[in-house]
Amino acid sequence: MSGRKSIVVGMSTCNIAAGAEEVHDFLAERVAAGLDADLLVTGCFGMCFAEPQVRIVDADGASRLYANVNRMRIEKIVAEDVLGGKPVDKWLVKLDEGEGQKLWGKQKRIVLANCGAIDPEKIDDYLARDGYKALEKVLRANDRMAVIQEITASGLRGRGGAGFSTGMKWKFAYGYENPKKYVVCNADEGDPGAFMDRTTLESDPHAVLEGMAIGAFATGANEAYIYCRAEYPLAIKRLYIAIEQATARGFLGEKIFGSPFSFEIHVKEGAGAFVCGEETALMTSIEGRRGMPRVRPPFPAEAGLFGKPTTINNVETWANVPWIIRNGAAAFAAMGTEKSKGTKVFALAGKIKNGGLVEVPMGITLDEIIHEVGGGTGTKRQVKAVQMGGPSGGCVPRSLFGTKIDYDEVTKTGAIMGSGGMVVMDETTCMVDVARYFLNFTQLESCGKCTFCRIGTTRMLEILTRICDGKGVPEDIPALEDLAQQIKTTSLCGLGQTAPNPVLTTLRYFRDEYESHIFDKKCRAGKCRSLCSFRITEACTGCMVCAKNCPLDCISGEKKQLHVIDQAKCIRCGVCRDLCKFDAVVVG
Ligand SMILES: Cc1cc2nc3c(=O)[nH]c(=O)nc-3n(C[C@H](O)[C@H](O)[C@H](O)COP(=O)(O)O)c2cc1C
Repeated sequence: MSGRKSIVVGMSTCNIAAGAEEVHDFLAERVAAGLDADLLVTGCFGMCFAEPQVRIVDADGASRLYANVNRMRIEKIVAEDVLGGKPVDKWLVKLDEGEGQKLWGKQKRIVLANCGAIDPEKIDDYLARDGYKALEKVLRANDRMAVIQEITASGLRGRGGAGFSTGMKWKFAYGYENPKKYVVCNADEGDPGAFMDRTTLESDPHAVLEGMAIGAFATGANEAYIYCRAEYPLAIKRLYIAIEQATARGFLGEKIFGSPFSFEIHVKEGAGAFVCGEETALMTSIEGRRGMPRVRPPFPAEAGLFGKPTTINNVETWANVPWIIRNGAAAFAAMGTEKSKGTKVFALAGKIKNGGLVEVPMGITLDEIIHEVGGGTGTKRQVKAVQMGGPSGGCVPRSLFGTKIDYDEVTKTGAIMGSGGMVVMDETTCMVDVARYFLNFTQLESCGKCTFCRIGTTRMLEILTRICDGKGVPEDIPALEDLAQQIKTTSLCGLGQTAPNPVLTTLRYFRDEYESHIFDKKCRAGKCRSLCSFRITEACTGCMVCAKNCPLDCISGEKKQLHVIDQAKCIRCGVCRDLCKFDAVVVG
């Protein structure tokens, strides 16, 4: 703290997309013109639904967070708060009361602890929050097995989806004698709706580097790769900066902390193929070949990157490691359920009020995450289901929202914990269309190596498209189930083995929607255009919003009079229903 006020602007991809650069540029001009304050940047605060965000920190350390800041608001905030010492109450985020308490009360931040709190491009900020202390601790103790035991005792399981014990994985790699070993960070993050890893890398890259260095020391590796998709340019930029700064300070490179341990990290930019997140495909891609999965065994711990013993973990898994070493396995294991310890970061997206990143202790229920932390839909509509685990996962209906966040409990629903993407759906979501969307994704992303994955998903997609187009036949449901089982059992990698999950879970919980598409030729959600129509009910107040926004001008009616849709012209886009504040537009 410089003894002056600081203005801290959230500058993550999500903040920037919401206009943070304009706010930052304005502040930079004001500071250059003599405004008596330090202008700082940070990563994502997690509240992506209310970005850009700006924190004002007083000389004594007291701070306030403003949400939805724009060019007009920042002028007022500077004039009244920074210069006038009087916070602009109406734009403040009140974290400990009302909605703020709901959003933050149940969160516990380990992985996201530094996100929104430090400048990710300044290593000193990380060091000020105990950065690289865990690495120092393990190198001074110089006991590789003790580190592996600590990680095992913590109960940490891989956050990339499969949930394998991290300590056990490290132990396997430790056990294979070889002068050359690698560690790899999986930052491919291909699941639609997931942005946990991107945000962590953009907001706190050193935590990942430190975790990797600890894992490398424990397993006997001295070289690492971070495989990050090229669509994440800010994450990649900050990773390069962090690696350079850590190397310059001696936390990476030769003889770290004066120990015999030397370690270097490279960044490999992936071209954005979903299958390249699969560990064997990922390593093949780093080697410079086409990223396609191969049969396991041998597992990477025995023969991974360039044929050498390799430990591959997800971004979030690595980011948990320094905290565990600093605070002890018992502190981590004290959070969560019997078999799922610690916390989990989730990316809330879709029909949810508080879309963004949350980190919650394992063991809390889906209902608590979606309705309390996430605030529900934020509209009069109810949440219908949540898609967890992306295309490898499935849809969990609201009736099962009592399910605890626990690898095994979530798996029982037919979905998977996955890497943490949660796409929330309300009654305007058609579950057949959702299944079609995810299958379209996996079909496009199949590498083509396995016949059932390549052709089976194509056939399933054809059937789903036919059902959504109103041309479904009764045999389609058993055909989908049959194909699903065959694709699951005959595919080589997790992509094919899990691709049918969205179809199977929607068939399990929303079979009636498939039936009404096929037998009644109706899409009750109003999504499948060939199977629905919209009409305006007596609840219409004649506000004219629907008429003004109809892309085909097919809604007529006078102000304060009941409006009417011209069914012959209507393309059933649903814009009128989405915008009507009075729920006057209905399906059918
Ligand atoms: C098709 C497919 C895509 C995957 N994508 C990712 C990914 O983007 N990020 C990730 O960490 N793991 C992904 N995985 C899981 C990895 O193969 C692997 O299990 C993980 O990197 C192991 O790290 P963890 O133990 O820390 O979870 C994917 C798996 C499959 C089958």
